[in-house]
Amino acid sequence: MSKLAIVYWSGTGNTEMMANLVAEGAKKSGADVTLYSPDEFSQTIIQDYDKIAFGCPSMGSEELEDTEFEPMFSAVESLLKDKTIGLFGSYDWGDGEWMRTWQETCKSDGAVLIDNGVISQDAPDEEASEACRQLGAKLAAA
Ligand SMILES: Cc1cc2nc3c(=O)[nH]c(=O)nc-3n(C[C@H](O)[C@H](O)[C@H](O)COP(=O)(O)O)c2cc1C
Repeated sequence: MSKLAIVYWSGTGNTEMMANLVAEGAKKSGADVTLYSPDEFSQTIIQDYDKIAFGCPSMGSEELEDTEFEPMFSAVESLLKDKTIGLFGSYDWGDGEWMRTWQETCKSDGAVLIDNGVISQDAPDEEASEACRQLGAKLAAA
């Protein structure tokens, strides 16, 4: 069975809704899915996975959340080479710049990115919800 980790941070619940939709899509496509908060995920656990979905909203000024998510992500970045990665997250007033930067970071780490990161202005509407489910399904099938 295809094994997928979904690692996310969410302050007000929007990215959490996205994480649950990614999980729904992946499970429907037969994946064995485990959701992790940043403090649960580590350099040890990442070695159990070839496929990971990371979720983080745009925080700071078009940045990853810097107290919990970014330190975890920095710690595992050197282990992302050749892993299949999907990114998702919520934003509000920006234009998705944090996601473009994040994708470039993952590419330079040698990760294989599934599509463009899925972004949702605030809570996911039906279109963003479907994009999250699709991301899960594609990761399950990758
Ligand atoms: C401290 C802080 C900084 C933020 N910075 C940005 C930003 O730079 N660009 C943006 O589009 N939204 C920004 N936002 C809005 C959040 O990304 C948005 O509310 C998002 O839906 C939060 O997702 P969550 O519910 O998963 O925490 C910021 C929100 C907070 C609280």
